[in-house]
Amino acid sequence: MDADRTHPLFAQRMDRLTVPATIAMAQRARNLRAKGEKVLSLALGEPDFATPAAVIEAAHRAALDGQTKYPPVDGTPALKAAIARKFARENGLDYAPAEIMVSNGGKQVIFNAFMATVQPGDEVVIPRPYWVSYPLIVQMFGGTPVYADCHEADGFRLTARALEAAITSRTKWLVLNFPNNPTGGTMGQADLEAVAEVLRRHPHVHVLSDEIYEHLLYDGLRHHSLAAVAPDLKDRILTLNGVSKAYAMTGWRVGYVGGPIPLIRAMTAIQGSATSGICSISQAAAVAALDGPADIIAQMCAVYAGRREMVVSTLRAIPGLTCAMPHGAFYAYPGIAGCMGRVSAGGHRLETDQDFAIALLTEQHVAVVHGSAFGQGPYLRLSYATSDDILKESCARIARFVDGLN
Ligand SMILES: Cc1ncc(COP(=O)(O)O)c(C=O)c1O
Repeated sequence: MDADRTHPLFAQRMDRLTVPATIAMAQRARNLRAKGEKVLSLALGEPDFATPAAVIEAAHRAALDGQTKYPPVDGTPALKAAIARKFARENGLDYAPAEIMVSNGGKQVIFNAFMATVQPGDEVVIPRPYWVSYPLIVQMFGGTPVYADCHEADGFRLTARALEAAITSRTKWLVLNFPNNPTGGTMGQADLEAVAEVLRRHPHVHVLSDEIYEHLLYDGLRHHSLAAVAPDLKDRILTLNGVSKAYAMTGWRVGYVGGPIPLIRAMTAIQGSATSGICSISQAAAVAALDGPADIIAQMCAVYAGRREMVVSTLRAIPGLTCAMPHGAFYAYPGIAGCMGRVSAGGHRLETDQDFAIALLTEQHVAVVHGSAFGQGPYLRLSYATSDDILKESCARIARFVDGLN
C-alpha cells in the first residue's frame, strides 16, 4: 500500500504530493553507500559546521532551568523579542511581537501561510529555478504554481518583466527567495525596487519573502529586505527567516516570520492545531544565536567564500560547462548544455541533466542534484557546504567524467 496513492484510504491531495527529485537522488546515493561504495555528496543544503558552542550551552541551561513545559504556540516572549531586535538591527524592519511568530523551521512558516490562504483557483507566482517545497505546498492546498523564469544571463534575478507577465487576477502570492536556493542568485536594492513597482500595480498580490540565506552573501554585497525597500507594501509581505542556515542549526527546527497581524493570527491558529509551540529548548538556543556575536556568521561566510572560488573556477575550466558566479547562499549552479547528447565513458547517453546526475553518481560516485528538479535544466546544483577535501575530489571526478564523454 505504501507507494499506491490511488488506494481509497488516501485523500485526493496526496495525488499532488509527488516525491521531489532531490529526495530520489539522495535515495540513489544511499543505495550505493549501502553497497559499500564511497559516495561524495554535494547534494545537501545543510551547513557542515557545528552549531556554535554558546548556543548549545544556552540550550543546556534552559533545560536545567526548567524551560521544559509547553511553550506558547506563537513563540516564547524571549525569542519573539530577540527576533524583533534582529529585524530592527539587521533589516531595518520594525515588527512588534504581535507581528511575529515562531515555527518548526522556515518550512512550517510556508506551510502555515499557504494553508491559511491558498485554495483551488488561486495562483502563486514562483520564480524558476525554485526550491522544491514551494510548488509542492501550493499544490497540496489545491493552488496553481505559475512560474516566472530567471535566467543565467541575468544572474538568475527575477526581472520586473517576468513578474508582470506571470501575474493574473487570480494571483494570491509571489514567493521571493533571494539569496536563492538553488542558484545562489541575489537581488540588490534596485532589483527589489523594480519588483515593488510591479506589485504596486497589483494590490491583490501578497509576498512571501524567504530570506533564510540573507547572511550568506559574498563580494561585499548587503542584503535588502523587500519590506524595508518598499515600506508601503509591508502590510502585504511576510518576511521569513530562521536559524538553520546562518547558525548551522538545521536540526533545532526554528524558523520565524514577521507580517501583518491578521495573517500571523491565522497562521498561529493553524500551528496550534498542528504542532503547538516549538521545542522550548530550541527556542532558548535561538535567542542565544540571534543575540550572540555576529562574527560567528562572518567566519563561516569567509570559509564558504573560499570554497565558492575553488568550485566555480574548477567548474569553469571544464570544457562544456558554464557557471555563473553565485553571490549568495552555498550553491553553484553550473550549466551542462555542452554535455547533452553525448555518451559517458560508462555508456550512458546523456539526454537530460537527470541522465548526467545519475551517470555521474553511478560512474564517479559524486551525488549532485539536476537542475530540472528545481524547474530549470540542463543544470546541476552543487552545494559547497562541505569540506575542502570533498569539494576538491568531487570537482576532480566531475572533470574526469566530462573528459570521458564521447
Ligand atoms: C529556500 C529555503 N527556504 C526555507 C528553507 C527551510 O529551512 P528550515 O525549515 O530548516 O528553516 C530551506 C531549507 O532548505 C530553503 O532552502
